[in-house]
Amino acid sequence: MKKKILLASLLAASMSLPAQVYLDPNANIEDRVEDAITRMTTHEKIQMLHAQSKFTSAGVPRLGIRQLNMADGPHGVREELEWNTWNVAKWTNDYIVAFPSLTCLASTWNTDLSSAYGHAVSEEFAFRGKDIMLGPGVNIQRTPMNGRAFEYMGEDPFLAGTIAVPYIKASQANGVACCLKHFVLNDQEIDRFAVNVNVSERALREIYLEPFRRAVDEAHVYTIMGSYNMWKGTHCCHHDELLNGILKKEWNWDGAVISDWGGTTNTLEAATGGLDIEMGTYTDGKTRESNFGYDQYYLGNPFEKLITEGKLPMSVLDEKVRRVLRTIFRTAMNPQKVIGSQCSEAHYEVCRQVGEEGIVLLKNRNNILPIDASKYNRILVVGENATRSLTKGGGSSELKSLRDISPLEALQEVYGEKVDTARGYYSGRAVYDHVDMLDPEKQAAYKKEALDKAKSADLIIYIGGMNKNTRQDCENGDRESYDLSYGQNELITELSKIQPNIVVVTFGGNPYNMPWIDKIAALTHCWYLGSEAGTALVNVLSGKVSPSGKLPVTFARNYDDYPYVKFGAEAYPGVNKQVYYKEDIFVGYRHFTSNKVQPLFPFGFGLSYTTFNYSKPSATLSDDVIAVEVEITNSGKTAGKEVVEIYAAAPKSKVVRPVRELKGFAKTRLLQSGETELIRINIPKKELAYFDEDSHSWSITPGTYTLHVGASADDIRGKATIKINE
Ligand code: GLC
Repeated sequence: MKKKILLASLLAASMSLPAQVYLDPNANIEDRVEDAITRMTTHEKIQMLHAQSKFTSAGVPRLGIRQLNMADGPHGVREELEWNTWNVAKWTNDYIVAFPSLTCLASTWNTDLSSAYGHAVSEEFAFRGKDIMLGPGVNIQRTPMNGRAFEYMGEDPFLAGTIAVPYIKASQANGVACCLKHFVLNDQEIDRFAVNVNVSERALREIYLEPFRRAVDEAHVYTIMGSYNMWKGTHCCHHDELLNGILKKEWNWDGAVISDWGGTTNTLEAATGGLDIEMGTYTDGKTRESNFGYDQYYLGNPFEKLITEGKLPMSVLDEKVRRVLRTIFRTAMNPQKVIGSQCSEAHYEVCRQVGEEGIVLLKNRNNILPIDASKYNRILVVGENATRSLTKGGGSSELKSLRDISPLEALQEVYGEKVDTARGYYSGRAVYDHVDMLDPEKQAAYKKEALDKAKSADLIIYIGGMNKNTRQDCENGDRESYDLSYGQNELITELSKIQPNIVVVTFGGNPYNMPWIDKIAALTHCWYLGSEAGTALVNVLSGKVSPSGKLPVTFARNYDDYPYVKFGAEAYPGVNKQVYYKEDIFVGYRHFTSNKVQPLFPFGFGLSYTTFNYSKPSATLSDDVIAVEVEITNSGKTAGKEVVEIYAAAPKSKVVRPVRELKGFAKTRLLQSGETELIRINIPKKELAYFDEDSHSWSITPGTYTLHVGASADDIRGKATIKINE
């Protein structure tokens, strides 16, 4: 037998059969793509363009070309679902690390941490055999009502894009593709499957496309997910101008566009409108199933029919197949793809660090924080989020974490017998119960218990906020109020009357109303912290770590202060499924600073346990790069990190521009008391451009630019000017 095999291989070699370049791990990817495509039948090409299960798309088994395994979500690997349904598969080996939400990551303003996050989370995806992670998300927080804001990176496109880039680079270096989402204008959940977004070209370019452009340009993101909504009356999952015109042609992007689950709506648009992999068709992206077979997808048999009947050229098919093959060779068949790991201590360390650096200290009256335990005999912990696991819920980004350290556990670990607890309110069953389904008597009983216990406490730590229940930061629906739910505002107010030493800790993806802000002693906002929530929070409350997070969104004092509100329902959530971004480019701090509307807490704001001095900044221009330098000194008594923010103010231009826009930032290392660090931030001149709608291109106004160096959008510590010539 052996002699026969040897003879056959010698014969093959002598006949110089074409080498299987596509299988050669050392061959150039483009050569592998071109070799593979010549070997595929038309039907095999078609099958590669759509789902073969809930979260996989087909390879070519006959040729040994691997399928693509995909999984949600940006904060960790979603638990395994059944092959063909939204039901969980009930595996026992898919418990993972739940990393902090991406709004928390953005709040760290730490690009090194973002890289560490992308490296760690992609190791967990690789270990679970996934080739594409469905994230990160960089949609813009234009409204604090967006149910999915917790998955995104705030209101500013520069911050969102700059934090996304290291995460994507690190993940793809591990051979796990990111799938940047949701491209584009998916900035609300109300009517998400059908709303048509009306936005100026300038706002589209400068605000909504910008984080995606930066990720394509600087991180070479491998895949992008089309969004459900429409722009110019066409669904973004197959939109010729958006996907073929801007993404693939203008941005010269060679990756694959993947539809959102159920976002594909017809064959001809899917075939000619830039879609490459159709997923989840005939389902609703969360629960609703379909009876259709995968071959009946729009890019399945109907597309194949158009090709075989010559109604569409084979080149249309091959263009898609090349992009999918490229993705397969960059991931599933990439010899550099790592094995990865799951629930390693290194991953928990990253989870903790991102949490610690993402927590934002918003108020600290009389330095009540960090907590000096020797001052207190009875510390009452109130609030359901002290014990509730916030890694569940929220929709497709939900996670089955191996361990969740709750705030209460961590507080008891540090403060022991001093800690007493009271639930304070209840929110019903995780994920399912809407606030209207709750029992008011039960609610009142929890509140009474907390108020009674408060009388014997000398410190209250209130832990509440949102919780990823439906309409409480959850996909497929927006928040219904700017207020906290479950009677929390009344509870916090009454607790503060009993005990003014009250520290409030909130979780959630969005700003919210704080009628009690002047009555409490301290406030930290934590976004969602993942598996190490308790440890990260208590490390900050106890002073083991000095808080260094800064807001990636503006916290308005009143809901009506948000720029779109004055334009009525048309501006949000839309009327008859038409929404008009009437605030244009004046999203977030761009509005609040330019129109002198005082927010409760501005974009970029966050306190530390120490203070920092800024030297007079300098700015020099060479080779089209502006170098801004400033010395940061820790002028307080404890160690801490400072985020330095650079806002550019343009000279008078032909268009109205915000008074200043974020164009650079950097985070110091941990500075000990009295220590100084020289911070140098390079700003390429092109970052100063605005998008000119007359020429449909970016334009830099010549003149003198002022670079404001600040600790937040409203706290400018110094400025430097630079002259930009023609
Ligand atoms: C959902 C979400 C998307 C997710 C996908 C798969 O509807 O919009 O973010 O990745 O479907 O679960």
